[in-house]
Amino acid sequence: MIVNALVAAAGSGTRLGFDTPKAFVQLAGRTLLERSLDALADSERIDRAVVLVSPDMREAAEGLVADPINRASWAGMSVSVALGGGERMDSVFAGLEELRRRGVTGSSLVAIHDAARCLVPPALIREVVDKAAEGVERQAWWGAVPVMPVTDTIKIVDEATSGPADGETLLEQTPNRDTLRAAQTPQVCELDALYEANLAYMRTTEISSAHASRQAGNQPLQLATDDASLLEMSGKRVVAVNGDLMAMKITTPLDYRIAEMLLNSDSKDVNRGLCDGTPR
Ligand code: C5P
Repeated sequence: MIVNALVAAAGSGTRLGFDTPKAFVQLAGRTLLERSLDALADSERIDRAVVLVSPDMREAAEGLVADPINRASWAGMSVSVALGGGERMDSVFAGLEELRRRGVTGSSLVAIHDAARCLVPPALIREVVDKAAEGVERQAWWGAVPVMPVTDTIKIVDEATSGPADGETLLEQTPNRDTLRAAQTPQVCELDALYEANLAYMRTTEISSAHASRQAGNQPLQLATDDASLLEMSGKRVVAVNGDLMAMKITTPLDYRIAEMLLNSDSKDVNRGLCDGTPR
């Protein structure tokens, strides 16, 4: 089965505190985007990768893709660049459209990966791709996603709009932690199923890149922040795979420092059974 990857790299990543958009920040001499592509290529499961970037970073991305050293290290995987959109889901949808323009449809797989999860182990990518392929072949599930158990107690909060606590943030509910997982990437889905789920989501929420309905304030919107959630909404089964701490998303300066330290340490050691997603 052909496996395409969409690498979401169009975010600004302002929380990281660099002037450069996050995917183009250097981490120990290599950008987050290059490191993500290294992992995808090293997994030996990805036939083609499309990198989704903002218009101002297109040239920089094309430069990385054309770099002879990168071309050599990604030799088994074709890499191209396309424009993303205003939110992550707009970027992914632009990538799905790009694949369709190239005639990629049918029961091929698409692995959506956040460029910000640049230390993802190739072995995890292999595992998620293989799990998704198994389900699609048996028509038993339509995607596979790496997940991690959560260690904090998670609260659902709401802002009080009247009464003695007016304006305060109140704790509303505490979901059972045993059933909670934090989703990572790559999220690997059957291409057509994910495309249809995107269309259905956009139809029901009337979301466009401009998010006109949210601006008009006439609809409570929950933005889809990952891809599996769209399949879940459209009633398609998605299977969980034990994730890996190394697939952490680099968002804050602290994440960046941790990633640097992981690269400087023996990451195999760091990762030896202590950091995988086995619930405990
Ligand atoms: O902002 P956050 O870290 O959650 O973004 C996750 C990934 O989605 C990042 O790799 C980011 O570059 C990407 N993204 C995107 N298009 C956007 C916003 C985020 O490709 N409009």
